[in-house]
Amino acid sequence: MHTKHKIYIRISKASMEGTDIILFCSCLLSVLVLYSAEDTISANQTISDGQTIVSAHGEFEMGFFSPKGNPQNRYFGIWYKKISNGTVIWVANRETPIANTSGIIKVSSIGIVVSTNQSTNIPIWSSNSLRSVKNPVAQLLDSGNLVFRDENEKQYFVWQSFDHPVDTFLPGMKFGYDLVTGIDRYLLPWKSDDDPAPGNYTCRVDRNGFPQIFFWNNSVPWYRSGPWVGSRFSGNPVQNYGEIYRERFVVSETMAYYVFEVLITESPIARLALTPSGASSLYILNTEKHNWTQYRIFQVTDCDRYGICGTNGVCDVNKSPSCECMDGFDPKIPEDWAEADWSSGCSRKVQLECGNRDGFVKYTGVKLPDTRWSWYNMSMSLVECKDRCMKDCNCTAYSNLDIRNGGSGCLLWFGGLNDMQGYSEDGQDLYVRMAASELKKNRKLRVKRLQIVLVPLLVILMVVISLSLLYAYKTKRLKKAGKQKTLRGQDFDLPLFSLMQIAKATDNFSNDRQLGKGGFGTVYKGILGGGREIAVKRLSKDSRQGVDEFMNEVSSIAKLQHRNLAMLLGCCIQEGERLLIYEYLPNKSLDYYIFDKNMSQSLNWPKRYNIIVGIARGLLYLHQDSRLKIIHRDLKASNILLDHDMNPKISDFGLARTFGESETPASTTRVVGTHGYMSPEYAFDGLFSVKSDVYSFGVSLLEVIAGKRNRGFVHPDHHLNLIGHVWKRYTESNLLEVIDSVILESISNQHEVFRVIQIGLLCVQEYPEDRPNMSSTMMMLTRDDALPIPKQPGFFLERKNYPETGSSPKASTMNTISVSSFAPR
Ligand SMILES: *[C@@H]1O[C@H](CO)[C@@H](O)[C@H](O)[C@H]1NC(C)=O
Ligand SMILES: *[C@@H]1O[C@H](CO)[C@@H](O)[C@H](O)[C@H]1NC(C)=O
Ligand SMILES: *[C@@H]1O[C@H](CO)[C@@H](O)[C@H](O)[C@H]1NC(C)=O
Ligand SMILES: *[C@@H]1O[C@H](CO)[C@@H](O)[C@H](O)[C@H]1NC(C)=O
Ligand SMILES: *[C@@H]1O[C@H](CO)[C@@H](O)[C@H](O)[C@H]1NC(C)=O
Ligand SMILES: *[C@@H]1O[C@H](CO)[C@@H](O)[C@H](O)[C@H]1NC(C)=O
Ligand SMILES: *[C@@H]1O[C@H](CO)[C@@H](O)[C@H](O)[C@H]1NC(C)=O
Ligand SMILES: *[C@@H]1O[C@H](CO)[C@@H](O)[C@H](O)[C@H]1NC(C)=O
Ligand SMILES: *[C@@H]1O[C@H](CO)[C@@H](O)[C@H](O)[C@H]1NC(C)=O
Ligand SMILES: *[C@@H]1O[C@H](CO)[C@@H](O)[C@H](O)[C@H]1NC(C)=O
Repeated sequence: MHTKHKIYIRISKASMEGTDIILFCSCLLSVLVLYSAEDTISANQTISDGQTIVSAHGEFEMGFFSPKGNPQNRYFGIWYKKISNGTVIWVANRETPIANTSGIIKVSSIGIVVSTNQSTNIPIWSSNSLRSVKNPVAQLLDSGNLVFRDENEKQYFVWQSFDHPVDTFLPGMKFGYDLVTGIDRYLLPWKSDDDPAPGNYTCRVDRNGFPQIFFWNNSVPWYRSGPWVGSRFSGNPVQNYGEIYRERFVVSETMAYYVFEVLITESPIARLALTPSGASSLYILNTEKHNWTQYRIFQVTDCDRYGICGTNGVCDVNKSPSCECMDGFDPKIPEDWAEADWSSGCSRKVQLECGNRDGFVKYTGVKLPDTRWSWYNMSMSLVECKDRCMKDCNCTAYSNLDIRNGGSGCLLWFGGLNDMQGYSEDGQDLYVRMAASELKKNRKLRVKRLQIVLVPLLVILMVVISLSLLYAYKTKRLKKAGKQKTLRGQDFDLPLFSLMQIAKATDNFSNDRQLGKGGFGTVYKGILGGGREIAVKRLSKDSRQGVDEFMNEVSSIAKLQHRNLAMLLGCCIQEGERLLIYEYLPNKSLDYYIFDKNMSQSLNWPKRYNIIVGIARGLLYLHQDSRLKIIHRDLKASNILLDHDMNPKISDFGLARTFGESETPASTTRVVGTHGYMSPEYAFDGLFSVKSDVYSFGVSLLEVIAGKRNRGFVHPDHHLNLIGHVWKRYTESNLLEVIDSVILESISNQHEVFRVIQIGLLCVQEYPEDRPNMSSTMMMLTRDDALPIPKQPGFFLERKNYPETGSSPKASTMNTISVSSFAPR
């Protein structure tokens, strides 16, 4: 089961106005006057349900309360006094609620006692201090700490609630253990929002090896902070909360504890709390609104689940599958790994020999492995650390302990390495011990990979020789490359999935899972082992373009990332199958919406405008900003997918071609694309350039506004296609008729829409050199400068024998040819 706790950051700096300060001060005064004498319970005093004790300055209050949603149960607890909602920070009788209002609190020589007012007087809860006290008093301090002490020994607390936290950790509290005093402070969150009894989760500083903070689910670890590496925990990516709070983790021979302080002086009230589900957040009081602002402390991703990849496996959220073995390791049970159960972990291909023949492989950007089986020394250097590890046959890895100032200290691991994670940028360096022979092999592997880079060159040569040879060769090569990638996987770009895994995810490519059929194959919906939804594009085995398009699609988009491009998660080349695995987008494609009477109602003008701009952004990225510079060649409504929030994502790069810096049009003998979206120069002469994509963009833009397909457009007045229709209405200055009637109501400014239509017409102009490039298009879409006047579009006739009067003979010929020589796919 995968759990993901998302904690959102809401930051609003509380600022105190002058009047507030005065108000605040007068409040404080009255509080002082009212409560100064009532923060203690003395020996003969009884506090009954309904009465409360308030700390000296009125920060905290204690007494009996009922949790929300559970009014019959009464608990003795402490809560914030100044926050009307009363956030409970501590509870005494967590597991033994009183079912009525007969509860009382007393102090005795052995501590604070909660009982009922019955004569039997069996305590419901007691603080049970070991030492008895002559003149016992209980006092609630302004820090939120309830202390039990002798009346005359103000500084010595026999018992304090801070040593027995529930789910809340306050500034100044030490979270951790002290072997000298025997105190171990850890959090046991509530079972549920209405039951303060301990639930299944525990958060505790673990004292085995180098101390770390562990979250336990019953007796199973499910999250680990990683060791403190000087300024933060290894498992917490860098966060810029430097001005809001500061945290420290202190480790010595006899103790380890975590403390934090809030640096916002105008709002010093803060708490760190665990929810019943184990999520942790820091809350800081917003003094203006008198409620809590929540800050994210950490976000538990799938990879954060303890040991998800097993021993010697590394998890990376950005990869899919997220687990892989370290170099020189193989899955212990490959069948399990193939089905996304990685818990069996990885074992060495070659056992360590011990002695001086072993060496170390450096990993950068990792969450350091579980340190429960580690040894550390704060003053050793990295070189000494390596020597120390080398001398111990059981030592499997080492690293610096403190990453500040170039690194210091030494941390050694023994046995298998557990719960590692790849972070890329802010992880640490880890040196893993390898057998000498494996070290050499690694070098060899790298050389082999170099050869693979040369393969495309070879391929080009072989095209000339024999097509069949080429396919055989390529499939073989691909298989080889695939194998190597799973083995190494440190810097490959695209994760490889196993056929078994995908077959399982798609119910063996069942028809029920079909999302659609495209030019080169079928698209299925799949669900991976972890519950992640994917779209699998299965290229037809006999597709003529098969291997080429596959390689092309994979290589062009593997490196692309943009929010208006569908994300490729991985691929699979096995047993003649070629599969592409994309992120799954629930809202289908644009054509499904704009061309459907019912569905089109969910896309009003602002949404459509957002879609148009999104497509333009994605295309601009492809053309210009991505490292590769890509011409899509098949942009159309059905290739534009919509995400949750109806943001467009360009997909289907099967025909994409990369091009160099020079923007001279390339040419091809095989014209592929979709009728109705192809520019004239591409359809006739096979010339494609960024400007042919601009044409397709223009067609899509007009379709989005009109809600009608360019091809197959029918109008009683004429026989033009949609482009022709828009052009005609443009020349007649009657653009209103062009707009999809469904969106008319949502349009507040008609001229804005007319402007976008004009941009569309500029994009579909007949001659590529007249069409704007995508950066100009983007500029026109988002700014309000004057627009050029569009010239006549290309391909505006739908059917032959109906030449538009006034069009040039050349244009009509072109249009005629277009119909007779290209059948729709
Ligand atoms: C508490 O009661 C005892 C007798 O029951 C008395 O001697 C003592 O002075 C009282 N203490 C206080 C603080 O009232
Ligand atoms: C108290 O907190 C609950 C959530 O814990 C919230 O729904 C409610 O509106 C709050 N009430 C006040 C008065 O702030
Ligand atoms: C109140 O509840 C307690 C148990 O929680 C019980 O022992 C006691 O008898 C009850 N008292 C009354 C007056 O109902
Ligand atoms: C105990 O408390 C309950 C509820 O407040 C009350 O009804 C009852 O009379 C009390 N009993 C004694 C002995 O004080
Ligand atoms: C706590 O764990 C027990 C058994 O391990 C399980 O039955 C129960 O449902 C769990 N409770 C919650 C709230 O997860
Ligand atoms: C905790 O364990 C229970 C079973 O004992 C399981 O149902 C639950 O999903 C676990 N929670 C997490 C966060 O792993
Ligand atoms: C805090 O209170 C303000 C208004 O008093 C409200 O708008 C805001 O949503 C509240 N924030 C939280 C986290 O409850
Ligand atoms: C369109 O919606 C109407 C009413 O909501 C429904 O009766 C009709 O079947 C829908 N048509 C299509 C094609 O979905
Ligand atoms: C888009 O998908 C989400 C999630 O499936 C859904 O909640 C939403 O209603 C969809 N939007 C439209 C306009 O269909
Ligand atoms: C796009 O067109 C504009 C105007 O013609 C030109 O200034 C700009 O350099 C072009 N951008 C690219 C990347 O070609």
